[in-house]
This record gives sequence, C-alpha cells and structure tokens, in this order.
Amino acid sequence: MLLDDFVAALDPVAFARRVGIEPDAWQRDLLRSNAERMLLLCSRQAGKSTVAALLGLHTALYHAPALVLLACPALRQAQEIFKSLVGFYGKLGQTVPTESESALKLELTNGSRLLALPGVAQTTRGYGNVGLVILDEAAQIDDALYDALAPSLAVSRGRIILLSTPFGRRGIFHRLWTEGGTQWYRVKVTAADCPRIPAAFLEEQRAIMPSWSYEQEFGCVFHDDQLSAFTFADVQAALSADVVPLFGEVVCG
Ligand SMILES: Nc1ncnc2c1ncn2[C@@H]1O[C@H](COP(=O)(O)OP(=O)(O)OP(=O)(O)O)[C@@H](O)[C@H]1O
Ligand SMILES: [Mg+2]
Repeated sequence: MLLDDFVAALDPVAFARRVGIEPDAWQRDLLRSNAERMLLLCSRQAGKSTVAALLGLHTALYHAPALVLLACPALRQAQEIFKSLVGFYGKLGQTVPTESESALKLELTNGSRLLALPGVAQTTRGYGNVGLVILDEAAQIDDALYDALAPSLAVSRGRIILLSTPFGRRGIFHRLWTEGGTQWYRVKVTAADCPRIPAAFLEEQRAIMPSWSYEQEFGCVFHDDQLSAFTFADVQAALSADVVPLFGEVVCG
C-alpha cells in the first residue's frame, strides 16, 4: 500500500481530499465519526449526498469485505449518488481493482460490494452482513423500507446513515430526528451554513417561495404537510391515554 493510500485508509478526510473534495467542517466531523447511527438534516445542495458517497466508498475500500447498500425513494435517485461514488472511485485510479461494474453495482477485488437499490421494501430484503446502509432523501422513504433494511445490520453491527431535507412532520426520518434518542449522531446544516450557497440566491428564493417551502428546503424546518386538514400538533393534542376505547382494542391484519 502506498503511503497516500495508507493515510487515506486511516483518515477519511485525507481520502476525500484525494478525490478532489475539501470537506466542509461538518463533513469532516461526520467522516471522522465512529458513530454507528447517523442522521443528517440538511438544506438542499448542502453536500449531504457527496459526503455519504465518500463514506460509502471509504467503507468499501478500507473496511473490506464490506457490503454497502444505497437506497432512496426512487431507484433513479439511488443511481445518482451511486454515480458520484463511482466517479470518486475513478479518480483513485484503481487503488483496489474492479471485479465487476454496472449502473447499479460495483464489486471490488477486495470482496466489497456497493449496490444501488430500488426504494421498495419487498425487493430490499435478504441482505446480510451489511457494513453500511445509506438512505438518501430519507424523509420521503416509506417506513417499510427502513424496516426492511435495518435488520440487515443486526449481526454485522454495520452502520446506517439517513440523510435528508425535511419533508413534513411524518415518517421514519422525522421520528428518529425528534425521538430517536442519543445513540443517533445528528448533524443539521442550513443553507446559510453552507459556504457554496450565496446569500443573494437565498434572498431571491425567500422572496419567491412560500415561507413554509423556503424554510423546508433551505432552513431544515419540519413543517406540517400543507394539504393535511389537521396539523401534527392537532393530532398529538387529540391523543389521550385516559380515554377507554368503546369497543376494546381493534387488531388489524
Ligand atoms: N466539500 C465540498 N466542496 C466542494 N463542493 C462540494 C462539497 N460538498 C458538496 N459539493 C458540491 O455541492 C453540490 C451539491 O452537493 P450534493 O449533491 O452532495 O448536495 P445535496 O445536499 O445532496 O443536494 P440535494 O438536496 O439537491 O440532493 C455538488 O455539486 C457537489 O459536488
Ligand atoms: Mg442529494
């Protein structure tokens, strides 16, 4: 192993620099974190998919043999992040040679595999010994997708990262962010925190977009679904453990 490669193996930030990315401070912290459970709540274009791709590739190269799974609400989105990961890999000049490659799969000679998956729970079951699960646009995935993938980490003690811009006060990402507990490493990055998003652009968009939409896309604010008749707070306030059900417990399914 060359010295550069040795350093990149030990330090994912050095690795990011090798593929031409100077990580932002929060990206550096994330890349160097040992957390097994990670949540990134970020503005649009903050750099969340980029840092997840770097993490996925670093895992495959230097924690071999590792299975890295990438999933998004739609396969097309998973392919996008997979493409940027393969682009970074290409810049390394076959540090670890390719075993086989397709639009959805990269297999390396060190035994690692990176797979882009469709965002459908039924077809994402069955993976074991997983090193890292990446769920991008996680606020828009079906809870069932998380439920299908998370158990694949049970034995391997692999890592999982969910990254997203907010999308309503609902779903697994919102629940983990607000109630997931301290085992989740949380990072929040608004557009104002991102050095590549000009303040003038944000001002322009603030004037054009509805305020809830602007705050959601750029300010990391979970807003109620604008089409819902009741807000999240209304529904929470209507729940009571003191009311005895009229007809006992109803079991569905
Ligand atoms: N540390 C960095 N240095 C330079 N460019 C970066 C860095 N991080 C991300 N970028 C660039 O910023 C742009 C947005 O990055 P990325 O797609 O990762 O953001 P995102 O948060 O996933 O955006 P979206 O919300 O649209 O999915 C890309 O062109 C990417 O190459
Ligand atoms: Mg992205």
